Amino acid sequence: MPRMKPVYAIVGIVGAGAMGRGIAQIAAQAGSIVKLFDTQPGAVSKARDAIFTQWDKLRDKGRMDAMQVEAQKGRLLVEDSMGQLSDCNLVIEAIVERLDVKKALFTELEGIVGAATVLATNTSSLSVTAIAAGLKRPRQFAGYHFFNPVPLMKVVEVIAGLKTDHAVCADLAAFARQMGHTPVQAQDTPGFIVNHAGRGYGTEALRIVSEGVADFATIDRILRDQIGFKLGPFELMDLTALDVSHPVMESIYHQYYEEPRYRPSVITAQRLAAGIVGKKAGEGFYHYANGVAQIPPEPAVPQVDEMPPVWVSPRAARRVELLRLLKTLGASIETAPAPSPAALTLVAPLGFDITTVSVVERLDPARTIGIDMLVDDAATKRRVLATNPATRSDMRDAAHALFARDGKPVSVIRDSGGFVSQRVVATIINIAADICQQRICSPKDLETAVTLGLGYPIGPLAMGDRYGPTNVLEVLFNMQTVYGDPRYRPSPWLRRRGAIGLSLLHEEE
Ligand code: NAI
Repeated sequence: MPRMKPVYAIVGIVGAGAMGRGIAQIAAQAGSIVKLFDTQPGAVSKARDAIFTQWDKLRDKGRMDAMQVEAQKGRLLVEDSMGQLSDCNLVIEAIVERLDVKKALFTELEGIVGAATVLATNTSSLSVTAIAAGLKRPRQFAGYHFFNPVPLMKVVEVIAGLKTDHAVCADLAAFARQMGHTPVQAQDTPGFIVNHAGRGYGTEALRIVSEGVADFATIDRILRDQIGFKLGPFELMDLTALDVSHPVMESIYHQYYEEPRYRPSVITAQRLAAGIVGKKAGEGFYHYANGVAQIPPEPAVPQVDEMPPVWVSPRAARRVELLRLLKTLGASIETAPAPSPAALTLVAPLGFDITTVSVVERLDPARTIGIDMLVDDAATKRRVLATNPATRSDMRDAAHALFARDGKPVSVIRDSGGFVSQRVVATIINIAADICQQRICSPKDLETAVTLGLGYPIGPLAMGDRYGPTNVLEVLFNMQTVYGDPRYRPSPWLRRRGAIGLSLLHEEE
């Protein structure tokens, strides 16, 4: 039984699709009477049957008791006209994502419900302020953005439009908690928090592919094993499907007036046009056989009979750890100021490409290999090496075999400004810092929204602290030099906080 009286005794839901039925389920579970309405004949009863089946399953698994399920069923009402929502305290809209249709719906609803009723939209990409424009009571209108599947994705963004009364947002947040969800407060900006913060992962990974640095499967492996993402960006795009994710990328990019950080990729545009949208189509970045991704095997570790001595650049990131690792792997380490003519020369730049480093440090590019040391070796399940266009294949093979000696997987990628993890992590953190800079939400809510809404292993600010804010800044500064692209321009927030830590939750930030 619900522990306390719900904030809203009677909740109307318009639109009984995937989202509407999920919201209806958790609102009824919180103790509200729920009135479900949809214009499509049969949609509401179909939704009710689906929710009842969910509850029956939860009862059979012992997760809900029988009385509780019966009470919930009694609270879920299907309505065949919108007029029956007149006594609702809150009406949540989850209909088609079109501004004109949503505006017309809310105008109609204002004529049906009482003056105190709160109206909320589940829009994920439209402006809450724009939907509220023209309403008689915009103070009682807010965004209430849930994620799919609603009962499992336990975060909801509460969005204040320019005219929304903050008491309304506070009530919606309290009701979210009663439904077992964690509310986060967001300003009305494109993508709100989650869809905005999520721009870094896929877009930067696509950019890496577009440069020919590594293939989809290698990038997925690197980001899973080095950073701890549950799904690589291409696995994730296959699951979400490009007919959903590509339009989101385009919409946020255009809504921010072509801000280069959010620039989408021609790769997804082309694949979408071809219908290669992901798992549901059987063909995406991966091919699916009976719903199972066919993952290309990893290149084998090369057989190397004679291992060259190894020299490490004095400017290598985490040089002490790198030398310790080489010792553990049984390498013959050179300690002279310059490498001998036989030596494999190792560099470990942050944000710079291996070619530039070998030229600047006056190393022989044919023997120079880079290793990504952004992540402490002890904390990563994979090592990533990068060649430059002049690297000899015997040197590449020697480095690959050496770093695979203890059985840890090794990926060898082509040269680029920044390694895969450096680029993706720095981009995610930079976008997150910009969200803080724009005060779209508090740093604390940002971390909550990203971990619950995107399933990242840790929040982007904590990620920045884990890998070192100054390291992240170095990656971005150097990538900006390599690419001359404003998308890598560090956010002022990141520049300021770089020295003191990103996830400090000081009030003034
Ligand atoms: P859906 O297509 O599964 O369901 C929409 C339902 O609304 C349909 O049953 C349709 O008959 C009904 N409908 C359409 N126009 C209507 C009207 N004027 N009056 C009453 N009912 C109407 O869509 P889904 O996935 O449930 O999404 C609904 C809304 O939620 C969209 O605005 C979407 O942006 C938002 N949203 C969707 C998410 C998702 O992952 N699917 C995530 C977060 C938000």
